[in-house]
Amino acid sequence: MTATTSLQTAGAGWLGLEGRVCVVTGAAGGIGGEIARELAAVGAKVALLDRDEKGATAFAADIAASGAQAIGVHCDITDEASVAAAAETVAGKLGPCSVLVNNAAAIYAGALMDVQLDKWNQLLAVNLNGFLLCSQVFGRQMIARKEGGSIVHVASISGSVPQPYSGAYSVSKAGVKMLSRLLAVELGEHRIRSNVVSPAMVRTPMSAGIYQNEDVLRRREAIVPAGRISGPRDIAEAVLFLASERASYINGQDLLVDGGLSQAFLSLIPRPGFEKQDA
Ligand SMILES: NC(=O)c1ccc[n+]([C@@H]2O[C@H](COP(=O)([O-])OP(=O)(O)OC[C@H]3O[C@@H](n4cnc5c(N)ncnc54)[C@H](O)[C@@H]3O)[C@@H](O)[C@H]2O)c1
Repeated sequence: MTATTSLQTAGAGWLGLEGRVCVVTGAAGGIGGEIARELAAVGAKVALLDRDEKGATAFAADIAASGAQAIGVHCDITDEASVAAAAETVAGKLGPCSVLVNNAAAIYAGALMDVQLDKWNQLLAVNLNGFLLCSQVFGRQMIARKEGGSIVHVASISGSVPQPYSGAYSVSKAGVKMLSRLLAVELGEHRIRSNVVSPAMVRTPMSAGIYQNEDVLRRREAIVPAGRISGPRDIAEAVLFLASERASYINGQDLLVDGGLSQAFLSLIPRPGFEKQDA
């Protein structure tokens, strides 16, 4: 029996992320920014990568103002040279990466019958190829460091359940889930874990337009067992757990952070005699 348990060392240090170099892609966005902020709050050194350099740098400056170590770095995850340059900057300024959060993504509306192949390819270049590129480049830093590491990919419930009229989005997220499982197997010998966090509905700039409509907001809340739409912090906390030492034996998994939405499917079926009775 060990002298102290994880719970006895509770506090920010409980996660074991202090001083670790953590890279978050899409960190100028709603979820990525919150992940970076939460990582910094538990003592990690954080690199905020985004093709929106101004946004990433502003977020990093805001985080650094609270005394944490954070840098904003320009990176287009679809471009090999850009990812390699960003990795060099991170290693030079903070040290080799030990946690990568693949989060940057895009979405476009479009029916499959109408989607243009170049639009399809553009989305896969960000949402799937970009995840592979960053895993390769930052994974090499983890391997060279010889102390293991953790990759957390932000996918979506739509990678498991079809989300129609969203072009290649569902396909890209399904691909991310398999990419993560493959990385878990292939990088296991280096003690690098790979897991997925799958949000459902989150209020961020990506989805802001939807929630401006009060009626849509209420209808969406009504179908979530938890009774609310999630915020970036709900997703960030799950990412931190999977990135942390507290998840050191969790590998190749997909954690749905959906308020129970994915469990509510059968409750949508009209079943006379089996409905909730009013008191
Ligand atoms: N918002 C939701 O409801 C929701 C639901 C499920 C999953 N997700 C997933 O969560 C993640 C974050 O989404 P969000 O809502 O914070 O989105 P967001 O639009 O707020 O942020 C995405 C960020 O990615 C960056 N980005 C896009 N293409 C890039 C590229 N080629 N290189 C570098 N950066 C690039 C953007 O500049 C932006 O800052 C995504 O993977 C998304 O698919 C979001």
